[in-house]
Amino acid sequence: MAKIAVYPGSFDPITNGHIDVIKRASKVFDHLIVAVLVNDSKKSLFSLEERLDILKHGIDNLDNVSFDSFSGLLVDYCKEKQLSAIVRGLRAISDFEYELQMAQMNRQLYDKTETVFFTTSEKYSYLSSSLVKEVAKFGGKIDGLVPDYAIMKMKEKLSRGE
Ligand code: PNS
Repeated sequence: MAKIAVYPGSFDPITNGHIDVIKRASKVFDHLIVAVLVNDSKKSLFSLEERLDILKHGIDNLDNVSFDSFSGLLVDYCKEKQLSAIVRGLRAISDFEYELQMAQMNRQLYDKTETVFFTTSEKYSYLSSSLVKEVAKFGGKIDGLVPDYAIMKMKEKLSRGE
């Protein structure tokens, strides 16, 4: 049976740290679904459609990676798609507690999908979508931190005062 994994997240927007995890996870699994959380209660800079558009532009030439969105519980998505694994990135020890809690809760709810952690490359260990947005908002340089397409879309948004 093919090993299909999901890499879930807010991806608001995708960073080069996420892309690094996607590339590496795509070598380990037969197929990787990058799934964007639909979360109406969390204020995001980009809409779901925009986040998916930026993802698709950021990741090309990876035949075994596809894109999707999900709402509700991640484990329900895993059950529906019969997924082998949930992929998450670990940047630093500070991520660990939250990630461990989520992995254990998810296993408690549904134990047929394992959580697999990828440690992010050191050069991206400080990187987060939130920090990138803050730096961009104040006119700081974000080149090399997110895909060029994301920089363009962020500039468009910020120039409209959104
Ligand atoms: O990129 P993020 O915001 O850190 O991703 C968090 C995400 C989307 C993986 C997490 O919030 C999630 O799985 N949400 C779906 C709702 C859910 O299943 N909650 C219980 C998790 S224990």
